[in-house]
Amino acid sequence: MDVLITGANRGIGAALLADYRASGYAAQGTARNDPALLPLDVSDPASVRALAKSLGNTPLPLLVCNAGIYLDKGHDLTAGFAPDLWGETFAVNVTGVFLTIQALLPNIRAARGKIAIISSQMASQELAPGGSYIYRASKAAALNLGRNLATDLKSEGIAVGIYHPGWVQTDMGGESAAVTPQDAARGLRTRFDALSPATTGCFETWDGRAHPL
Ligand SMILES: NC(=O)c1ccc[n+]([C@@H]2O[C@H](COP(=O)([O-])OP(=O)(O)OC[C@H]3O[C@@H](n4cnc5c(N)ncnc54)[C@H](OP(=O)(O)O)[C@@H]3O)[C@@H](O)[C@H]2O)c1
Repeated sequence: MDVLITGANRGIGAALLADYRASGYAAQGTARNDPALLPLDVSDPASVRALAKSLGNTPLPLLVCNAGIYLDKGHDLTAGFAPDLWGETFAVNVTGVFLTIQALLPNIRAARGKIAIISSQMASQELAPGGSYIYRASKAAALNLGRNLATDLKSEGIAVGIYHPGWVQTDMGGESAAVTPQDAARGLRTRFDALSPATTGCFETWDGRAHPL
């Protein structure tokens, strides 16, 4: 296997999977409900363990943690951001990312591979335009995870990159978004190719710019 992408049944994940496969890569994707892909619910630790078990000792050169949710879009500061949404969002966007990486680390180590975390420009502390508190906090945590994992894994030659995929035309991004999933996928692939121990911990946009932390 060359690459494994979580949340690959639609949106950016599906475009990445299609792009890698069209180039002849042995790419696999995960989905919660798609028999053509490997089953994975990142918010369910048993599901993460089952995925790792199904991979066995297969070396994994690139893991893309793409699965994510955005439940508080447009919420109002006075009445929105219900307590349940915090746990639900963090279980996918933060814990789900960590558990997936932790479970597949033996496979990544076997390939001296790389890890790509799809975060968001909304993770930034320097750019803080307000709103979407739950999603922003979760993506900031995913960025933080990635930067600390980069430190811990550097001595093993395993690089970790964190990415803003663009504002992309998906169910999450909406129809008026600026970037097609195909263009986002192509740009992200170029970033993943460039990721190395020398650039580990980078936070970059899909089109190759360093993003403010
Ligand atoms: N679109 C944008 O403009 C944009 C901008 C910045 C960052 N991002 C990030 O880019 C990534 C992909 O976004 P997208 O626009 O492609 O979103 P999307 O179209 O909503 O697709 C989300 C994907 O994540 C999967 N997913 C959700 N919850 C999951 C869970 N518990 N376990 C496993 N998979 C789960 C979904 O599977 P189901 O079909 O089963 O729900 C789907 O495959 C996300 O991390 C998102 O935060 C997107």
